[in-house]
Amino acid sequence: MDSSGKIGIFDSGIGGVTVLSELVTLLPTSSFVYFADTANCPYGPKSKEEIIQLSDKITRFLISKGAKIVVVACNTATASAIDYLRESFTIPFVGMEPAIKPAALATTTKSVGVLATAGTFKGRLYRETSQKYAANINVNYQIGKGLVELVEQQKSKSPEAKKLLEKYIKPMLAENIDYLVLGCTHYPFFIPLLEELLPKNVKIIDPAPAVAKQAQKMAQKTILMNDSDELFIDFYSSGDITILQQIVNEKGLFKTKILRNISFTENILLK
Ligand code: DGL
Repeated sequence: MDSSGKIGIFDSGIGGVTVLSELVTLLPTSSFVYFADTANCPYGPKSKEEIIQLSDKITRFLISKGAKIVVVACNTATASAIDYLRESFTIPFVGMEPAIKPAALATTTKSVGVLATAGTFKGRLYRETSQKYAANINVNYQIGKGLVELVEQQKSKSPEAKKLLEKYIKPMLAENIDYLVLGCTHYPFFIPLLEELLPKNVKIIDPAPAVAKQAQKMAQKTILMNDSDELFIDFYSSGDITILQQIVNEKGLFKTKILRNISFTENILLK
């Protein structure tokens, strides 16, 4: 056990903040260090090798900042790099689980939709989970090309986003889905629009709360908690920090207390 440990968390950009906000609700007196790889976003079209290299550098950086556990708050990085990370570092990692299991167990129409990046669909985790839990279910998967970029540009409620989402969910609705799985941590930013576009019987599954719960358990095992009654978050980005600052200050994303003890550092060059 370590009393000075921080929880490291990273994503290709601001998507992982959807996981961080859940974690802050569960562990409101912990220290977090978040890395947004804005300069290399999006990860979706990148090769496995490239994502492994980036994840390796980010993990080293997070460890140098005191992380004793790392949450890979990116489905694409989890798909490509989690096996490598677990083999290469001694600290524990929590990755994003493709939430096909809860959707497959709950569907009554036997038809579900999954929206994720190309990298996530290529991964072993997605393949294995869908084979294991959704073999007898009609899984309508769709690559969300262009969606991550819209979130990074703060356009998740724009007409452009609406048009693209409509295009992606139309074929799924034609297949009578009753669950839509969000397989990318950027996509919860589209929930207000998706709720407008989807019929009432279609439920959205965001895996962030379940992953945050798992990370909470892991953190409680690894780090001695509650040695402070305050929340600390250090945000780092390999690029511009403005959007990260904006969404962190946006009302509603962090459900707990007013955020204090927060720092932002941009243009981090990873070695
Ligand atoms: N948030 C990342 C994910 O969950 C986005 C990937 C990307 O940068 O394309 O997959």
